[in-house]
Amino acid sequence: MSLFHRKPFATLQAEGAHESPHGLRKALGPANLVSLGIGAIIGAGIFVLTGQAAAQYAGPAIAISFLISGVGCLFAGLCYAEFSAMIPIAGSAYTYAYATLGEFLAWIIGWDLILEYLFCAPTVAVGWSGHFVAFLKEFGVTLPEHLTRAPFDIVNGKLVASGALVNLPAIAIILLITGLLVVGVKESANFNNVMVFTKVSVLLAVIGFGAWFLLTHPDLAIKNWTPFIPENTGPGQFGWSGIMKGAAVIFFAYIGFDAVSTSAQEAKNPQRDMPLGILGSLGICSLIFVAVSLVLTGMSKYTDLNNPAPVVNALQAAGAPAALRFVVEIAALAGLSSVILVMMMGQPRIFFSMANDGLLPAAFAKIHPKFRTPHITTIVTGLIASVFGGLLPLSLLGELVSIGTLFAFVIVCLSIWILRIRQPELHRPFRTPLVPLVPILGAIVCGAQMLALPWDTWLRLIGWMALGIVIYFTYSRHHSKLRRQVTP
Ligand code: ALA
Repeated sequence: MSLFHRKPFATLQAEGAHESPHGLRKALGPANLVSLGIGAIIGAGIFVLTGQAAAQYAGPAIAISFLISGVGCLFAGLCYAEFSAMIPIAGSAYTYAYATLGEFLAWIIGWDLILEYLFCAPTVAVGWSGHFVAFLKEFGVTLPEHLTRAPFDIVNGKLVASGALVNLPAIAIILLITGLLVVGVKESANFNNVMVFTKVSVLLAVIGFGAWFLLTHPDLAIKNWTPFIPENTGPGQFGWSGIMKGAAVIFFAYIGFDAVSTSAQEAKNPQRDMPLGILGSLGICSLIFVAVSLVLTGMSKYTDLNNPAPVVNALQAAGAPAALRFVVEIAALAGLSSVILVMMMGQPRIFFSMANDGLLPAAFAKIHPKFRTPHITTIVTGLIASVFGGLLPLSLLGELVSIGTLFAFVIVCLSIWILRIRQPELHRPFRTPLVPLVPILGAIVCGAQMLALPWDTWLRLIGWMALGIVIYFTYSRHHSKLRRQVTP
């Protein structure tokens, strides 16, 4: 069988259409899907990176960076919406690539998605740990530092010992969420709904307070926003190149709308609800991001926002009541918890699809008889993520997650275009508008953001892919079910 043999569409659609009593449970309606998207999107990006990117790269024009990155995500989101309504299978971009580009590239994307999901959960868990430690300090409880930080740090691009032992809170939150994910998709979705309600209402309160402050202190707001695009001081430092650099950095904030597609097999009506979940969550979060970034840079000078809690600090600068600052801290914890949850929900489902196709061991495709969740892959994901979260620093993980996700977006955009040419007759419950313009622009904007990421991140991506290729040729290719069907 050729490396580029494709999985037939009819097979995929049949796999996704029926709910077997021993398979994944079709329990998710439209509101749950939008909520899963918001759950995965709003997290460390808006609560932490916005302030740092405004202070270092874009100034108040970080709002423009959010718009640019959001438009790239919209193009990719439209392509994800078409695929996930057409092929409601848990494997997301891996499955779409299997149908359009063939087995080898599907494996490459499946392997790449691990960078997004399996690495995103510990990245955000490390952020969660930092917020949790700060939150406990408010009540006079100080956890020992050597148990709340990774034993390694990155200094000038090199991994060095930090003097700490392990990040225990990061491990604890990952293991707690793993337990919840094993128990059920409905239970996990309900927990996510509560977290999403908390973080969205608090961010709306921040926007409300910020708007009131800006209207009542117009002179201060204008002073903070001037110049809106600070003068360029070097490559990627303010001016338009800074806005672009800011867009690449805060892309992390948008990651997650695509995770909705990994729940396609558990959606009650994927044809209608997948586009709604993906595009609805992306649209709502884009508006919130632009509004939050505008009020933050209006309430506080952008140069003062380079710290781990920029939202709290901007509120403090504007004299917000202590109660609002307190609930922002709770919202950040809730926000980060739901990002970890949805990412750790996505990864096992991709493993599950790959194992169903024979590319990973069959045990990975097992479903728990009572809970109807992919319990083995969920536990494996949780254990690996907790090791990363306990031992590695945030900076090593974050950019790797962004580059992995952007790569998947580029492939999904190109696949939509290829499939329209190859099989124009297929029934598409949702159609990406203006093909090939939208997929091409999506691939260009996402590709440009990949190029803006540092060279050492590229090296790590290449190393990770090389490992994946070795595994494909030594294991997966020989166990592929499609290969066995095609070459008897
Ligand atoms: N978008 C997610 C976050 O900001 C990954 O934490």
